[in-house]
Amino acid sequence: MAKAMSKTKVAFVCRQCGGESSKWLGQCPHCQAWNTLEQVNIAPLKASAHQQGYATGRSEVQSLAAVNTQVQERLTTGFGEFDRVLGGGLVSGAAVLLGGHPGAGKSTLLLQTSCALAAHSPVLYVTGEESLEQVALRGRRLRLALEPLQALAETSVERIIALCQELKPKVLIIDSIQVMYVDEIDSAPGSVAQVREAAARLTRFAKQTGTILLLIGHVTKEGSLAGPKVLEHMIDASIMLESSADSRYRTLRAIKNRFGAVNELGVFAMLDQGMREVKNPSAIFLSAEVETAAGSLVTLAWEGTRPLLVELQSLVDTSHGGMPRRVTLGLDSNRLNMLLAVLHRHGGVFSGDQDVFINVVGGLKIQETSADLAMILAVVSSLRNRIIGRDLVVFGEVGLSGEVRPVANGQERLREAAKHGFKRAIIAKGNLPKQAIPGLQIHAISRVQEALDLLSNE
Ligand code: TYD
Ligand code: MG
Repeated sequence: MAKAMSKTKVAFVCRQCGGESSKWLGQCPHCQAWNTLEQVNIAPLKASAHQQGYATGRSEVQSLAAVNTQVQERLTTGFGEFDRVLGGGLVSGAAVLLGGHPGAGKSTLLLQTSCALAAHSPVLYVTGEESLEQVALRGRRLRLALEPLQALAETSVERIIALCQELKPKVLIIDSIQVMYVDEIDSAPGSVAQVREAAARLTRFAKQTGTILLLIGHVTKEGSLAGPKVLEHMIDASIMLESSADSRYRTLRAIKNRFGAVNELGVFAMLDQGMREVKNPSAIFLSAEVETAAGSLVTLAWEGTRPLLVELQSLVDTSHGGMPRRVTLGLDSNRLNMLLAVLHRHGGVFSGDQDVFINVVGGLKIQETSADLAMILAVVSSLRNRIIGRDLVVFGEVGLSGEVRPVANGQERLREAAKHGFKRAIIAKGNLPKQAIPGLQIHAISRVQEALDLLSNE
């Protein structure tokens, strides 16, 4: 019996998706990626039973109604945008993963956050990637108040936890989880086994002591290091810091959040003085140009809990060669193909011999269907070389039979447009607000053809 208990079991975990398999396979059965399974030792049953959950030792059955849930106090990160993505700030005992590509600005953002938090709570910043000199140099250059911040250069999880038991920080920051290691596990730092175990131990420590844990995790294109995917099930919130290739803007997005809404978007700019939050992101997603060109059009996207004005640019040009090109940046290219078919069939506009490019200004990715109508009108504007007035905003979903459908939060979107000085809107009938919005003339339509007619009269 005792023998069976202490026997370690092995499992195979996919580096890409974190899925487990009981035997080694060339292809992950969960995400179909090739050559991504890695062997992981599963701790003996006795040890793992308390490693998995967050129970703190006592176990007694209670009525859920009797469980004490006083209002969770939330610590502010010093950035309104970061707080909003987190669902209103950091909650005691929460484990938050900040993921992103190398160079996205994760270390910078968390160093700034640490200094803001350290002003009122004890914070321990653990760096395993940079030396303390490098961190201090960066902090000085960014003119941060470094005195109250405790820093440590360490990669051993056991030692970090032992030190935390002594120091009792309210917030523990780990930069990054990929360089941390647990002594008992004999694979290299960065391997799935190490990353999983290191994160599990730190998370357990956070839960048991009410410490807020912020983990930095790198995402690599090839997935050669165990990525945030492997950790997603054990942490409370997974936040991604994303940048577009040549943009100084960074977006912060919650992929998973036990304490708030997902898909909330925060916008930052990477400046010489570090990360600066952008409080009015609509302004950056509209190109600064006063002179507008044909093919350019403003739409209203919905990000998390707020509307965002964004500019679409389309270029339609005669195609040379067999297959005309359909290129989208920040939008779904299948959606564009579908919309071009709708445009032909229900709007009588043929683009089969044209290359079509569409871009979202500012590097934003639009994941909802509300940009459909704007995509169609941007294409037509470029094809006909007609400039669309800068005071017009367009949103609505387009269906396969050429109908224009309403989208969620129509009223808030229209109010945002009016606030930014837009004078006219083309929207779906179903989005017509009950009360007129001052300063905004609304064209409510039900078919794509009607939008094309409105455009001809521009
Ligand atoms: P960093 O926070 O080190 O990224 P990560 O930890 O995600 O790998 O930031 C790296 C980039 O940010 C680097 O290319 C330089 C740039 N940067 C600035 O533009 N301004 C600054 O003030 C700082 C500190 C960095
Ligand atoms: Mg870094």
